[in-house]
Amino acid sequence: MQYDKNISPLKNQACASCHMPYTAFSGPIPSVNLTMIAYPGTVHFRAGKRQAQRYTYAPFFPVLQYNETQGLFFGGNFWDSRATGYLLRNPDAHQSQGPPVDTQEMGFPDTACITFRLSRAVYRPLFELVWGRGAFDIAFPPDTEQICATPGGAAVFHGDTTPVNLSPVDRTRSNDVYDRWAQSLDAYEQSVQVSAFSSKFDAFLAGNYTMTGPERAGYNLFRGKANCNSCHLDGRGTALTPGQSDNSKAAQVNPLFTCFGSANEGLPLNPRNAFYYQTTPDPYGFTPNPLGFGYRDLGLGTFLRSGFGTWASPNITWRQFAPLNDGMMQVSSARNVAMTPPRCPTTEAPGPYFQKQFFHNGYIKSLKQLVHFYNTRDKQGFAYNVTSGHCPDGTIEKVNCWPRPEVPNNIDMTTGDLGLTDQEENQIVAFLQTLTDGFTRPYPNRATFTGTCMSGGSASTQGNEFLIPTPPLPPCAPEVCDLPPRPSPSPIP
Ligand code: HEC
Ligand code: HEC
Repeated sequence: MQYDKNISPLKNQACASCHMPYTAFSGPIPSVNLTMIAYPGTVHFRAGKRQAQRYTYAPFFPVLQYNETQGLFFGGNFWDSRATGYLLRNPDAHQSQGPPVDTQEMGFPDTACITFRLSRAVYRPLFELVWGRGAFDIAFPPDTEQICATPGGAAVFHGDTTPVNLSPVDRTRSNDVYDRWAQSLDAYEQSVQVSAFSSKFDAFLAGNYTMTGPERAGYNLFRGKANCNSCHLDGRGTALTPGQSDNSKAAQVNPLFTCFGSANEGLPLNPRNAFYYQTTPDPYGFTPNPLGFGYRDLGLGTFLRSGFGTWASPNITWRQFAPLNDGMMQVSSARNVAMTPPRCPTTEAPGPYFQKQFFHNGYIKSLKQLVHFYNTRDKQGFAYNVTSGHCPDGTIEKVNCWPRPEVPNNIDMTTGDLGLTDQEENQIVAFLQTLTDGFTRPYPNRATFTGTCMSGGSASTQGNEFLIPTPPLPPCAPEVCDLPPRPSPSPIP
């Protein structure tokens, strides 16, 4: 099902179009990662707004919960945690019910279309074997194929999200099939074919791998001076002081390198994101982003308000917490952040390398830059009150100039001025590379990339030739920033 292009109106897009094994099932196309950030949907002139995340370890996130004592949210899937899992009790299964009806992704106009196309799939017998023979006992109206071949959001639907006319009983059956479909995808994503626990680090924990000097040094920094494991939990204690050696056994031997929480790391607005430019109706009469550059990505905050471009929050009592969560994105598992196809063995210039993108808006293009960002974002003389593409003469963006955050509210101050040397940054990169699955046994289907690798340049400035000046920003649109309770401080610049 992950590879089935029939699960899209124009039969041209599968989950795999945006999630391939060789990137640990994240964005597979180097040129998209380098430029437009968001991946094109079934209607190729439409695109979403964030980077395509990795599948790996997403099934291990718990149902979204508000922890009253800490005042923090934990769990869910997606950058803004909107796949809460509240009905299926499984955020990852809930997640997979998004793309098929997301107007900028696979884009069906009705969830019944997934059931309909499944009922005609070659693997239908297999589905029935697992989920029951009567699964597709549904009377689909004669116009179903025609409806399902029209992308969602099209003017002909007048906003109707259930244009396939089913009886209440058949609608319930169709919903059941959609739930089973979601659970099947979750089962695959949780299996050893995807979430493999087969990295160097796993071998190290099992006592079967000795880290190299730089890897070991990077690991010590990761859970010491650089404080990374306060959010990317590694199952061990933290903050060794100089001269101290850690004799503790790992308290958790399958650590996921996330705390399931969220934080605002203060990424600058990335004007490359295709989302900003989709401001006029497409041939179907649909406008993905009427707000243009008035859009601000408030992440979890907007979800808690059930605001623009996210899903409805299932819990109205959470809404009051929105201002404390504006700008927050989910703490990704650091696992597999460095996975690339074997023929382009690294993410880092000079390579030969495979161009990935990092963080929710793809602003960062190499792991060196990622660590440098955590290290120097707030460092004296590095932080400038400019937007991307406008760093002052004599500075180099991402090297010694960081543009201001898109959302200045609730910025995490754990990191930002870590005092790491250049060599220490590289050691952390070396450690991050030990988290790539496929060391203890081959990672399935990893060698399927047929494009060319890139080479040359330096990891510090990788992708900088594609920076463009951010246009003068209009104020944050009322649809985003005036929804109660309003961001605080307000307005978002
Ligand atoms: C058009 C590209 C596209 C398609 C097609 C697509 N995705 Fe995604 N996927 C994304 C993007 C972008 C995100 C992050 C979106 C966000 O957080 O707002 C994402 C996020 C995810 C995540 C979340 C991981 C996490 O850590 O929270 C999973 C799992 C996932 N997708 C699975 C799927 C499955 C299964 C399908 C097919 C049913 C699919 N995707 C189809 C682009 C796509
Ligand atoms: C306060 C919590 C916190 C700390 C501390 C932290 N991170 Fe993160 N990390 C996050 C969040 C939140 C994200 C997602 C941010 C976004 O995309 O806007 C993230 C994302 C990542 C990713 C995945 C990026 C991607 O595109 O998939 C890596 C790798 C990472 N961090 C490494 C580190 C390293 C290395 C350190 C220490 C130098 C560190 N983090 C410290 C919260 C934290």
